[in-house]
Amino acid sequence: EDSTFIQAERQGPVAIVRLDRPKALNALCDQLTRELSAVLDAVEADDSAGAVVLTGSEKAFAAGADIKEMQPKGFSDVFLEDFITSSWERAATLRKPIIAAVSGYALGGGAELAMMCDFIIAAESAKFGQPEISIGVLPGAGGTQRLARSAGKAKAMDMVLTGRTIDAWEAERIGLAARVVPTDSLMQAATEAATKIAGFSRPAVLMAKESVNRAFETPLAEGLRFERRMFHAAFATEGQSEGMAAFLDKRDAEYTHR
Ligand code: HXC
Repeated sequence: EDSTFIQAERQGPVAIVRLDRPKALNALCDQLTRELSAVLDAVEADDSAGAVVLTGSEKAFAAGADIKEMQPKGFSDVFLEDFITSSWERAATLRKPIIAAVSGYALGGGAELAMMCDFIIAAESAKFGQPEISIGVLPGAGGTQRLARSAGKAKAMDMVLTGRTIDAWEAERIGLAARVVPTDSLMQAATEAATKIAGFSRPAVLMAKESVNRAFETPLAEGLRFERRMFHAAFATEGQSEGMAAFLDKRDAEYTHR
């Protein structure tokens, strides 16, 4: 079905999902987030898709939740609809890898959406911030938690309490962005990374992603135990025997993704 504010295309095994609401700098209105969630559902269900690149425009990844939609809401409105968990968090629950390719503004909910992805590749033009404090609220889609975990308390407090925007290089320095690339090669870099990931044995990729995510949810001993069990489980996949045989034969592996 057609989306108004999302464009989805395929490049081989990579699904490229583009936020496309240019008149509002990709502000995450209710319709956009519902469409995004539906598109990600479809990618998750599609066996031929191995990884996702989530991006916006050159000017804005997303300038945040839609302030026009939020302004009239009261407590009961946001509480009863559980604003925003329903649709936005699909990016965070996706089992397939998802890379945020960020150019321009990633503010408020836009930064939070980027942080829900597995990692962020930032164009030199990228600007990250949590400006919610300046409009009378606070981050509500994981900003205080994910920023504190990736960048640490000092930077999280600085950004969340002052609303200060940081550039791509600072984002990389503090552990928010994985890489910074020239703005005009952002999509090439992100698509290349996603293509590489999609080419690996899919069960191993999903186990690796799940294992890294465990690091944020459990004590070290539990996380290590989880990783070990996943590692053992990988030996039940076709990818393990094929990947190791291909290495020994000095040839490229041909994965069935089973
Ligand atoms: C609704 C938005 C918007 C937003 C921009 N627009 N951001 N509309 N919600 N978050 C609209 C503007 O109203 C304007 O529409 C058009 O996009 C272009 O924006 P301008 O402000 O004219 O562009 P510019 O001068 O280049 O400034 C860019 C900007 C600024 C610095 C990014 O737009 C800005 O500060 N935006 C708000 C950023 C923000 O506070 N985000 C956090 C939101 S709270 P018109 O019709 O006037 O042309 C949040 C909470 C999430 O995200 C918590 C989870 C629930």
